[in-house]
Amino acid sequence: MLYRCYAKINLTLEILGRRDDGYHDLASLVHTISLADKLRIEHADDLLTRVEGLDIDPDTNLVARAAALLASTTGERRGAELSLVKRIPAAAGLGGGSSDAATTLVGLNALWNSHVSVADLTRLAADLGSDIPFFVRGGAAVMRGRGEQLEAVPPLGGQWFVILVPPHDVLDKTRWLYTALEASDFSSGETTEAAADVLRRRQALDVTHLVNGFERAARSVFPGLSATWAEAQRLAARPFFLSGAGPAVFALASDRADARRQAARLAQLGSAHAARTVKHARASLKFAAETSIGYS
Ligand code: C5P
Repeated sequence: MLYRCYAKINLTLEILGRRDDGYHDLASLVHTISLADKLRIEHADDLLTRVEGLDIDPDTNLVARAAALLASTTGERRGAELSLVKRIPAAAGLGGGSSDAATTLVGLNALWNSHVSVADLTRLAADLGSDIPFFVRGGAAVMRGRGEQLEAVPPLGGQWFVILVPPHDVLDKTRWLYTALEASDFSSGETTEAAADVLRRRQALDVTHLVNGFERAARSVFPGLSATWAEAQRLAARPFFLSGAGPAVFALASDRADARRQAARLAQLGSAHAARTVKHARASLKFAAETSIGYS
């Protein structure tokens, strides 16, 4: 079976505050987009993972960990061969590794006929990482808590984006970015609620709805990001916003032609992509019949 592991962008990302357990409470409106890795899952005697398209791949590790977690939870003794073709830039704020891990859970659940419910798959996903539960279903959702509490909202139809990932090599990026946060980076979550309301009313988003609380920290942690960001805004003549903890930045595009034109312009600055919103990451699965349950 062949699956697409869709990337996400955080249309909003607000950090509400630091918690006693070392995590941070978030409010984020997140949406799957058409930029995707491909994951082929086949029967095999042992659990094998391999990857194309990236030299050193932290995301392979998450696929292997997801597979091992499902196998140990269900007592599965059969193996599987998992072949990942990477297209989503790694550790960029686009959720590539998390999407690969969630798709591994969903795909192996189908291959092994494990009958693990969507709610239980979502709980397993949360054990692997805070933003992995979202990718079990994808689409549009408000993430709360440390990222594992999800409220589905109506997805945006056919919104195009141009995405730029500047070259970077910051190790253990997510933890670094959280550590670099200051009290002035925290906000109430109101912008996220307002943006989610726009989707609930099935209206179009505009730039006034977009925000990211990591912006100041990302500019200080990623060398050269501020200059690249300014140059992207000059070349594409529009504001860009950070996705996740960065360093990927994105802008709204009016249609596919506009997104592609801007991506071609930005290619000199890094890895540039045109992508559109994806409403249901699992539309093609038998599993899709269950998804009306919503998140637990
Ligand atoms: O959950 P995950 O393993 O992806 O988180 C990686 C690190 O990012 C955590 O150890 C924590 O330091 C930080 N984090 C956080 N608040 C969140 C999510 C992650 O502080 N909501």
